[in-house]
Amino acid sequence: MIEELPISKWRGPFDTDVKARALDALESGSVLYFPQLPFLLLESEIEFLDAKVADGKSKNISLDHTSGKMQASSLTGERAARLAAMIERFGSSAAGLVRDLLPYNHVERARTSFRPVQVKGRSYSKISDDRLLHIDAFPTRPMHGRRILRFFANVAPTSPRHWHVGQPFEEFAQRFLPRVGPHFPGKSWLYGKLGVTRGQRSLYDELMLSMHDAGKLDNDFQSTSPHRNVIFAPGSCWLVYTDQVLHAALGGEFALEQTFHLDVAQMASPEKAPVRILERLSGKALV
Ligand code: SIN
Ligand code: FE
Repeated sequence: MIEELPISKWRGPFDTDVKARALDALESGSVLYFPQLPFLLLESEIEFLDAKVADGKSKNISLDHTSGKMQASSLTGERAARLAAMIERFGSSAAGLVRDLLPYNHVERARTSFRPVQVKGRSYSKISDDRLLHIDAFPTRPMHGRRILRFFANVAPTSPRHWHVGQPFEEFAQRFLPRVGPHFPGKSWLYGKLGVTRGQRSLYDELMLSMHDAGKLDNDFQSTSPHRNVIFAPGSCWLVYTDQVLHAALGGEFALEQTFHLDVAQMASPEKAPVRILERLSGKALV
């Protein structure tokens, strides 16, 4: 479930056996853990290890690397520019590592985020509470079966980041798929037209969102489904398909995260993708 890799540099070339192990573990639903790969902050960036750099409304500060636009930070002027540069340096480092470690030809680099607020003790509605076990599914960004791959770094000086990692995706889907739906294509069409979603949701997107919500709302599932405690040490990184791996973030502060999207066809084992598993279980084409 956790595959520890002995990588200590951000760029390849990496050993062939390390690359093979990484690909197989990742696509099989393990978390790749890099305990010897710290993302180092510059002396001048240490000041950003402060919850007050966030605007207090959103849980994450996010950066769109294509426009350079940063959202949800309280900082302005020169300090905002330096924070954005730190997030960008992390995002491009993460992209370099993913490119050199995995054989995928085309990985789309999506948003980069900085998560400066302590996870413990915040309050949320259940649906947006990532301290509950869930798979990632975006309400406003239809994926049409494409994968969500995320690279994290714990940049806290002393606090570990504490996760729960749950049962395999197929077991989760077997439990929740029969409970969700029916889905009305008219709703996806309308949301697309109104701009609630960026483009129209596929049946896959509707199912993933419904399972995300149903899992978070099910107290019995939350308290009794099998899961493991995982501790990501300060100065470590990890990489995981968060659309496949059930996860919950229970504690920690100061993490950086880079999201990637990729087509199922790029995978070495496309049959392990959530869309393929859901199509097999439901007997329907979902995209
Ligand atoms: C999540 O993706 O659910 C949150 C992970 C984290 O911030 O550690
Ligand atoms: Fe998540």
